Amino acid sequence: MTTYLETNKQRFLDELLELLRIPSVSADSTFKGDVRRAAEFVRDKLTAAGLDNATLYETPGHPVVYAEKFVDAAKPTVLVYGHYDVQPADPYELWHTPPFEPTIRNERIYARGACDDKGQFYMHIKAIEAMVATDGLPCNVKVMIEGEEEVGSDHLGLFVTEHRDMLKADVILISDTSIISNETPSLEMGLRGLSYVEVQVTGPNRDLHSGVYGGGVANPINVLCEMIASLHDENGRITIPGFYDNVADLTDTERSELAKAPFDLEEYKRDLGIGDVMGETGYSTNEHTSIRPTLDVNGIWGGYTGEGAKTVLPSKASAKISMRLVPNQTPDEITELFTRHFKSIAPAGVTVEVMPHHGGMPYVTPVDSVEFEAASKAMEEAWGKKPIPTRGGGSIPITALFERELGVKSILMGFGLDSDALHSPNESYGLFNFYKGIETIPYFYKYYSALKQ
Ligand code: BES
Ligand code: MN
Ligand code: MN
Repeated sequence: MTTYLETNKQRFLDELLELLRIPSVSADSTFKGDVRRAAEFVRDKLTAAGLDNATLYETPGHPVVYAEKFVDAAKPTVLVYGHYDVQPADPYELWHTPPFEPTIRNERIYARGACDDKGQFYMHIKAIEAMVATDGLPCNVKVMIEGEEEVGSDHLGLFVTEHRDMLKADVILISDTSIISNETPSLEMGLRGLSYVEVQVTGPNRDLHSGVYGGGVANPINVLCEMIASLHDENGRITIPGFYDNVADLTDTERSELAKAPFDLEEYKRDLGIGDVMGETGYSTNEHTSIRPTLDVNGIWGGYTGEGAKTVLPSKASAKISMRLVPNQTPDEITELFTRHFKSIAPAGVTVEVMPHHGGMPYVTPVDSVEFEAASKAMEEAWGKKPIPTRGGGSIPITALFERELGVKSILMGFGLDSDALHSPNESYGLFNFYKGIETIPYFYKYYSALKQ
């Protein structure tokens, strides 16, 4: 296996760079053609890797790419999931090299999607190619790579329901998460859910002169800021009534298990250029970013933001707000609680609208399963160290949907680093991680096929 990887190292990388040159931004319709081109590229590489029936399935949004290879009815079936779409690259001016002209510096690939998720799902295609070309696949394999993950996977639910039989599998294998560090491999056993809303505060029926009316008429931006500020109390807790009602608290044992993961707070602060961290009283930084729910403003606008100064009391102000959810919160329940509360705290003189965007369920995977054991052994074999089970802070809403629609659990065997700058300018992925992933994945198949007997 290593030999095949060794001899094909450069080609594997060149192919990934070619994929990274396609700006498959799912959120922006200007890139619609590029998104499709990325899907076709993936389809062709699946065929080249030795998979059968590689096909683009149309959806009302971007296409889903699917391929499969059946080897033996007695063997378990692995369904690999990933996404070929990427986040918008804005702001472009903050990139040291252009986001869609992948560049290698310091043993890292710099490009939008390098880690999330092109670099990561591409490892699977190359690992499958390597297995097919050498000892053969020890499991049946199905690969589904979607193009709308970064915009909420709106059409994937229906696709999965309509193709239940085709997607039938024993386990779902996903590389779209992070490890603690290259020295400390880890396996995520949970992800947070998401409730995402947009709010709009309207005051007077038109923009006003801020001198003529200022001080006597509610300013929607001032009001919005006060409303948002009131959503956390002095202990960093979210003030929405009922928000914590369904939060599953971890036992002390679970918390102390998770606390064993190495974490250097000073290094964390230095890396982010911050003087201190913050968060809910009584929990550690690692807990704040994984097992506790959050509320964050992702964007806020209104009034005059152009050059120079314009004296105006604006008619409207808006914000986009995300809430990360933990078991057993649900996006529907939280969106409802948020909406009711946010409207109730609006002062007289303004009206408030709340528009829900996408949401997703939190997810946890059992660690006492053969699936998790196979992943753990695979990482141990490749890294020479047992991976530490962790809980992740990001969201992959499709994991809960797979469980509901297919009754299948997901294994989150990601190889990225939190410092890879996902969704940020200068996203990158380590060459070490790319190759280590290709080395680790076949071990998963080996152990899984042995353990699942
Ligand atoms: N790959 C990420 C999620 C992730 C990143 C999980 C790092 C764990 C560690 C995924 O592509 C993503 O960005 N998901 C979105 C959710 C989606 C509904 C837009 C997110 O978490 O914001
Ligand atoms: Mn991703
Ligand atoms: Mn992402």
